[in-house]
Amino acid sequence: MEKFVAYNPTKLFFGSKCVSSMSKYLPSLGSKALIITGKHSAKKIGVFDDVISQLRQANISFVEYSGIKPNPVVDDVQKAIELGRSENVEMVIAIGGGSVIDSAKIIALCIPQNHHPWKVMKGIQKPVKALPLVTVLTLAATGTEMNQFAVLQNDETHEKLGFGSPLIFPTMSFCDPTYTLTVSKEYTAWGLVDIVAHCLEAYFGNGQAYLSDKIVVSILKEVIEIGDQLLIDLKNYELRERMMWASTCALNGITLHGRKSGDWGVHDVAHHLSALFDIPHGASLSVVYPAWLKLFKKPLSERISWLGNEVFGVKNANATIKKLELLFMFWNCPINLSMLQLKPKQIDEFIALLRQHKPTGMIQPITEEQLVELVELMK
Ligand code: NZQ
Ligand code: ZN
Repeated sequence: MEKFVAYNPTKLFFGSKCVSSMSKYLPSLGSKALIITGKHSAKKIGVFDDVISQLRQANISFVEYSGIKPNPVVDDVQKAIELGRSENVEMVIAIGGGSVIDSAKIIALCIPQNHHPWKVMKGIQKPVKALPLVTVLTLAATGTEMNQFAVLQNDETHEKLGFGSPLIFPTMSFCDPTYTLTVSKEYTAWGLVDIVAHCLEAYFGNGQAYLSDKIVVSILKEVIEIGDQLLIDLKNYELRERMMWASTCALNGITLHGRKSGDWGVHDVAHHLSALFDIPHGASLSVVYPAWLKLFKKPLSERISWLGNEVFGVKNANATIKKLELLFMFWNCPINLSMLQLKPKQIDEFIALLRQHKPTGMIQPITEEQLVELVELMK
């Protein structure tokens, strides 16, 4: 095993009606909040009202920034930072999925010292403190409710970057699966893919992390078991509950202990599809992962085969990759660029951006020639 530090300070409340205990815990964080939401869902499904009622009980005033879009953009984050500073807020509350929570993480990080979100994402400015962040999760996928990562997009430069800092672990996260009952079939499927992808990114990291490998296998089996049922029974609370906990566990650190790091090359490449064409995160991953596995089939043959045997009961790398493609297709997710309906000109743009930014893995480097090969394998 590699040396590691296990650290996760997020206090996570999980289960039906867990939001009803917010009023007890929030006063210790301050008396004025900035609430961040997406476009419509938080108000439509009632979670916004549930949170407001808790704030009223706790005598906490609030201002609101709404309209964060999927694949969140830095401009929205900057506007919310300005609002938070002018209103002297003392905490940030995110109500939504990964896009809202990631935006709120960077907002909470930039408010105290008036940092610029993109300069922070690029590592040019380095904040040393953040406002406390409370999240109320409404979509199970990213694991952001219990991790130190945020991903933002810059539409001017066509960049979608990840950022990590212990300062952006949420202070508290409230995870009531009831709120996810309304998530569409498409976003549910893309969420399942994201969970699978987080497991794979960890698994293809390095270090002999036997227990972490077995945790990965368990999470994969869990989502495979629930995925098919959930997609035909979207209002099933028990399945939503299992998906929500699986998504948290897939990226809260427990699959990474004993490794130097995960690989993250697939995420890096997939972010370029979102940055260019606003492809939803999960749909970009279901296209890139099979191609990446084909590209590295030889050097990773043993690792892929072991996973295939444990998860799908198949014996070799080719059969494992096929099983993964079939799984994504069964969930109605795209597995190639034509299923994303990209035109040849758009594929050329994608290649050009990859050549410009040179996304790569932390463990499996991807050369410029391999990036082009990877795109071929996505066709
Ligand atoms: O905008 P609203 O109206 O809220 O609608 C959202 C949005 O359209 C809707 N939605 C959310 N909760 C709902 C709901 N609709 C009905 N009922 C509900 N309960 O779902 C749509 C997608 O929301 P979004 O937040 O974009 O989805 P997701 O949670 O998949 O987040 C994706 C973002 O997270 C990043 C991705 O790159 C992407 O930008 N990631 C963040 C990570 C992290 N911080 O650790 C890791 C991941 O690998 C990922 O990169
Ligand atoms: Zn992801």
